Amino acid sequence: MTSITLPPVENNKVISKAITFKNHSTPWEITSLELPVASPDSIVQPDQILIKTAAVALNPVDILLRELTPRTLVGSSVKVAGADFSGTILQIGSSVETDLKVGDQVFGNLLNPFSQNNSFTEYILQKYNTFQVLQKVPEKVSLADAAGLGVVSNTSYQAFKGSKNLKGGSVLILGGGSSVGYFGIQWAK
Ligand SMILES: NC(=O)c1ccc[n+]([C@@H]2O[C@H](COP(=O)([O-])OP(=O)(O)OC[C@H]3O[C@@H](n4cnc5c(N)ncnc54)[C@H](OP(=O)(O)O)[C@@H]3O)[C@@H](O)[C@H]2O)c1
Repeated sequence: MTSITLPPVENNKVISKAITFKNHSTPWEITSLELPVASPDSIVQPDQILIKTAAVALNPVDILLRELTPRTLVGSSVKVAGADFSGTILQIGSSVETDLKVGDQVFGNLLNPFSQNNSFTEYILQKYNTFQVLQKVPEKVSLADAAGLGVVSNTSYQAFKGSKNLKGGSVLILGGGSSVGYFGIQWAK
């Protein structure tokens, strides 16, 4: 059983260190985010999940995320970089429908050019439906290794999702030893 320690709350906010950027031409930097708390009894809003990040993984798409960020959203506020992460669930909002539980070790993928907050942050506080992937870390897989699984598993899944009439057929996967190809083989099975 994983013990849960909620982050300290000061002035109705949780402070979360994060890797952020200001606009398309500035480098990433470490800053302190102020995450608003829902109420005195709950950090999360009913539709949110709170995760303590254990590890994050770099992916080429993290650079694209900065390029794709609509300029109007960047403005004077900072934006959190990153997509892939692993961590432990600290709180789940009352209206979230999921089999996941508080204390579960999870990996996932947040990749939203329209959001101010993605994954490179000490505490991930997000609406449940903004996670592209949020799954339990398999037994015998470390949190560090699991942090790199989100984007590649989702990329492979997207390829299969868009394909029709595959049942009973054969699939040719080029580069089956690559990160995306490896997941493609699992999905095909
Ligand atoms: N990673 C992602 O999140 C992601 C997301 C979207 C799209 N993609 C795309 O998916 C594809 C695979 O990406 P990945 O991240 O899964 O790659 P990866 O894990 O870095 O693996 C690349 C694979 O390509 C092989 N390879 C490289 N150059 C080759 C060559 N000249 N001839 C034959 N094989 C060669 C490598 O073989 P060796 O190991 O033997 O060198 C390796 O198996 C790429 O086109 C990438 O742009 C990736």
